[in-house]
Amino acid sequence: ANATPTAPLSLGFTGLPFSTDDVVHVPAGYSTQVLYAWGDPVGVPGKQPTFKQDASNSAEEQALQAGMHHDGMAYFPLPFGSAHSKRGLLAINHEYTDDGLLHPDGMAHWNDKKTAKAQAAVGVSVIEVEDTGKGWRVVRPSALARRITATTPCAISGPAKGHALMKTQDDPKGVRVLGTLNNCANGQTPWGTYLTCEENWSDYFANNGELSADDKRYGIKATDAGYKWSETDFRFDRQITPNEAHRFGWVVEIDPFDAKSTPVKRTALGRVKHEGAMLVLAPDNRVVVYMGDDQRFEYIYKFVSSKPYNPKNRKANFDLLDHGTLYVARFDQDNTGRWLELTHGKNGLTAANGFASQADICIHTRRAADLVGATKMDRPEWIAAHPHKPYEIYCTLTNNSERGKEGKPGVDAANPRVDNSFGQIIRWFEGDNNPATTEFVWDLFALGGSPTGKGDKKASVQGDTFGSPDGLKFASNGLLWVQTDVSTSTLNEKDYAGMGNNQMLAVIPERGEFRRFLTGPRGCEITGIAFTPDNRTMFINIQHPGETSSERSDPAAPKAVSAWPDGAAGGRPRSATVVIRRDDGGVIGVA
Ligand code: FEO
Ligand code: CA
Ligand code: CA
Ligand code: CA
Repeated sequence: ANATPTAPLSLGFTGLPFSTDDVVHVPAGYSTQVLYAWGDPVGVPGKQPTFKQDASNSAEEQALQAGMHHDGMAYFPLPFGSAHSKRGLLAINHEYTDDGLLHPDGMAHWNDKKTAKAQAAVGVSVIEVEDTGKGWRVVRPSALARRITATTPCAISGPAKGHALMKTQDDPKGVRVLGTLNNCANGQTPWGTYLTCEENWSDYFANNGELSADDKRYGIKATDAGYKWSETDFRFDRQITPNEAHRFGWVVEIDPFDAKSTPVKRTALGRVKHEGAMLVLAPDNRVVVYMGDDQRFEYIYKFVSSKPYNPKNRKANFDLLDHGTLYVARFDQDNTGRWLELTHGKNGLTAANGFASQADICIHTRRAADLVGATKMDRPEWIAAHPHKPYEIYCTLTNNSERGKEGKPGVDAANPRVDNSFGQIIRWFEGDNNPATTEFVWDLFALGGSPTGKGDKKASVQGDTFGSPDGLKFASNGLLWVQTDVSTSTLNEKDYAGMGNNQMLAVIPERGEFRRFLTGPRGCEITGIAFTPDNRTMFINIQHPGETSSERSDPAAPKAVSAWPDGAAGGRPRSATVVIRRDDGGVIGVA
């Protein structure tokens, strides 16, 4: 806690202009390398199907290959406990699918095989990677390589384990669920596990009957959001399997060092549309996990474990995330704030108000947060803690086009702009320099905006501008990285006219200085950030290059926008992990 660096950082590269090119641009003196694209074999020994450019790989092959839509990601040095910067594991989320690209004929003639392939294309990859001296490569085969998909058995733990609402015909005890999906951002624990977060899970479910309060609060509708799984896999039909939806929306913990380990859904952390799970240690070594619920007018949460982290015994920490206290944030107008406890019997969370137990609170977390009066935010995405000051926390609030609309919440101090198309980064300082405390002070670190914007559309940043901040992570040297996810419907258009493709910026937080470090190919989001311990290799993800508003119905549409990364000779654009190095081998981003 006393490791504040003496030498202030300074940025060591020339900022890039906006770009509409179909390439990844990085500054002079830096190079990129595509490492792991959708369809590349994960490296399971003896089972390494090659990618077919016409997307004719089967579901069984897809389950042994990189999934689609790479998102959050973490690097784990090998062997465990070392600080190796040349060999490690990457755990990578595969958020969702563009089914137009996933199958040779897109979504036409939907059937159970297409559902199975889509289910095999989401979840998580664990790959072994190595710096050969001539670039990084995926180690194939590797005994640690694995895919976790929407059908991989996962354990349910914590307060909701075994609850009546978690039981299904296939799982009468409510302790085991098949798979994880819509794995968006992530977290990483000091005991070497990966946290993957289930975000827009409700999009996969359909309820062609009377909608429940839970359906309404989480957005389940008569039909799914276009994935069609519910047509052939009745787990996703709320009329046939009413409780399956309760078994998604969790933070899932994975041990990447054991390819046979069972992922665990940690229900103590609540059921929302989890963006990420940023973990820091309190001064007494209790673990604190910060979590955004990414939807308009949703909340920011944190979990504080009951027991401290044990640095001497890795496995002693494996159930730490099952016991603790869940909180939700209230940001007051005077720039103070409070963590409101979501514990059964407190703050009105009683049987009389519909919460019979802690399990009820964990399953119906949004309704519990409504009841205690938390602050409705502009879409909380990633959360990052300063590595030298773990009580100084930043959160991207990506945008909120409905702020101030008729019938919707108006502005407040933390969410100060109507029709908020550009988003903001909020920051708070936990009381007593202790992340486990319940009071904080906050400020608006930066408002996104346009370089030519007027009034509410104007940016409040020093340096290069951006909008729709999403990915957010500190390198261990204290440099902050921000990635953008401007939606395809406004990319380089409307409020974003002239702002080009999505981008990544480096930020000196003490000076609020932003500089554009990377611009992506057309139609992509930039997401996922991981570093080697020496900060000389950075990994990022290019998600859905070529995305259009019609790709699910038209396999040709994305190709007309982007040919990244394979170029004109390739079959279709592919999400991919990209390695970034400095040509002189130096630390990324700094002078
Ligand atoms: Fe999957 Fe909120 O981003
Ligand atoms: Ca995101
Ligand atoms: Ca986003
Ligand atoms: Ca995206």
